[in-house]
Amino acid sequence: MKNTFGNNVAVTLFGESHGECIGAVIDGLAPGMCVDNDYIRHMLSLRRPQGDFSTPRVEKDDFKIVSGILNGKTTGTPLTILIPNENVQSAPYTDMARAARPSHADYTAEMKYHGFQDARGGGHFSGRLTAAVVAAGAICKQALEKKGITIGTRIKRCAKISDREWGELKADLDTLNQKTFATLDDAKAEEMKAAILDAKSNGDSVGGILETVVLGMPAGIGEPYFDTMESMLSHALFSIPALKGVEFGAGFSLCDMRGSESNDPMQAENGKVVTTTNHAGGICGGITNGMPLIFSTAIKPTPTIARAQNTVDLDTLTDTVLEARGRHDPAIVHRARVVQDAVTALGLCDMIATHLGTDALNA
Ligand SMILES: Cc1cc2nc3c(=O)[nH]c(=O)nc-3n(C[C@H](O)[C@H](O)[C@H](O)COP(=O)(O)O)c2cc1C
Repeated sequence: MKNTFGNNVAVTLFGESHGECIGAVIDGLAPGMCVDNDYIRHMLSLRRPQGDFSTPRVEKDDFKIVSGILNGKTTGTPLTILIPNENVQSAPYTDMARAARPSHADYTAEMKYHGFQDARGGGHFSGRLTAAVVAAGAICKQALEKKGITIGTRIKRCAKISDREWGELKADLDTLNQKTFATLDDAKAEEMKAAILDAKSNGDSVGGILETVVLGMPAGIGEPYFDTMESMLSHALFSIPALKGVEFGAGFSLCDMRGSESNDPMQAENGKVVTTTNHAGGICGGITNGMPLIFSTAIKPTPTIARAQNTVDLDTLTDTVLEARGRHDPAIVHRARVVQDAVTALGLCDMIATHLGTDALNA
């Protein structure tokens, strides 16, 4: 499957940045799930560009659900979401269409689609498509919340500036889920925004780290080898354009610890098994252990920057210098964070439907 993720709850993505619309089809949703359009609108608003530290291309994201819903509830047949592209300016891309943008997908798309791809605004590879991912993920996130599972993502680091550490997790997630620039410390958010603007004023861009916490996942979901919880979540996470790394729990820092430091001691609490630390990030042997899921992702700096860059003209295969135009985000991290919530929700719904059955999502 090329543009589809999931086994039992599967999402297919379609559209191009400057085409008529983008959208998603979700198959495998339980019948009778409530779909609150205001919830979808809220999540889309968290992805929408804000201020000078985002792209000036602002879309209303006036979505329509054209199948799979009757009287506000899922029917259980494929649900299709359409989001029109209304604020499109293709001229700058037509001018630079054949000079591949370094570290964007222009060259790799050319190799795969042999020049038939729609390159305007990055086409199918544009961050624009993540609006459809967010809309689809919002439906799954609502279903998980009804089951007592809460997802939230924060900007842990941006332009070398770090957010503060977590406090009470549920309260922190509830606050983050209302924020358009999702740090725990508002003062750090202002520092990060200033650093993004500084990079932008130099024709440059910055990256960062996103960290997600999921509360309420039951123990016992996942597979021991190929379809581990880590691999299924990573599969979903790597569909976020510009995401280049994933780390679960203490991740790479485990390598410098001794076993006595890295192990999570276990204890019984109110008839449940808990651990007193969570270096494993809530997953052991590919299976959830009932502790919060915790993972971080690396988001690279936006590839399209307003500086002259060496590249190749794809028609003549000669070296050229690209001075990119178009409307771009000087950082992606603050907009990608709600996309990370969305793909996490899609991945978890798929895993839950696989283990507990389709109807479990509406139980
Ligand atoms: C929300 C979001 C917005 C993005 N905005 C831009 C942008 O304005 N300009 C750009 O060059 N890349 C942008 N990207 C990243 C590119 O889509 C991505 O780097 C490109 O498709 C290459 O994929 P890769 O970085 O995963 O290899 C954005 C990504 C996301 C998730």
